[in-house]
Amino acid sequence: MTPILEIAKAHKLYVVEDAAHSLPASYEGKKMGTIGDITCFSFYATKTITTGEGGMATTENSEWAERMRMMSLHGISHDAWKRYTKEGSWYYEVHCPGFKYNLTDIAAAIGIEQLKKCNQFWEVRKRIATIYDEAFANLPEIQLSFCRSNMQHAWHLYVIQLALERLRINRNDFIKALREKGIGTSVHFIPLHLHPYYCDKFGYKPADFPNASSAFERIVSLPIYPRMTEADVESVIGAVSKIVKQNRR
Ligand SMILES: Cc1ncc(COP(=O)(O)O)c(C=O)c1O
Repeated sequence: MTPILEIAKAHKLYVVEDAAHSLPASYEGKKMGTIGDITCFSFYATKTITTGEGGMATTENSEWAERMRMMSLHGISHDAWKRYTKEGSWYYEVHCPGFKYNLTDIAAAIGIEQLKKCNQFWEVRKRIATIYDEAFANLPEIQLSFCRSNMQHAWHLYVIQLALERLRINRNDFIKALREKGIGTSVHFIPLHLHPYYCDKFGYKPADFPNASSAFERIVSLPIYPRMTEADVESVIGAVSKIVKQNRR
């Protein structure tokens, strides 16, 4: 983020961050949501805290915050409410052609309670990540995620990369073998340039983005979630280790 912010400053640009996976990460002692000009969080069902659907934007700029509030609900000015009537009055003014992007009150109520548990959820995920790290450290077929010392990883996902040159199976077969042992995994994500729409629209080929294509072939997200028991974690470790050992070159 430091170089990104420097470049933005030099060119008088604003930095809007996608922090959908980053709660509660931090960077050089600063929590996500306090670094860029605007930071966007996702509270979709799969995220580190959830409101079922929806999200949150943070900014230090009160003008932008007010604008976001207004545009998220039909462009209705809240100032107009305050200025002319008591709060809760029938009166309102539409100042802009806004959207219907508001979080429902029910979702917000869930979010407030979820937020209280955010660090507690993180502690569990962090512990699971540490157990995985230690268990896989001796398997050269598995490349682990790392976190620099000046950062806190949110551990929303635990992504490993397979050293395919050391294995006789590819990533898809690896996932299939895990599934056969009752372990559900996923791949985060399929790069945009491999999706039909982007291939058709922009003529992209896999080789156009060789790093993304190569990482995509090797990545697997292992289970990590607060309700995971130690036995669950051990079962994942056992399955991964067994598949690796059975398929070593
Ligand atoms: C990196 C990233 N950004 C943004 C989103 C979108 O989140 P939402 O649609 O909940 O705002 C996602 C959802 O998975 C994501 O993974």
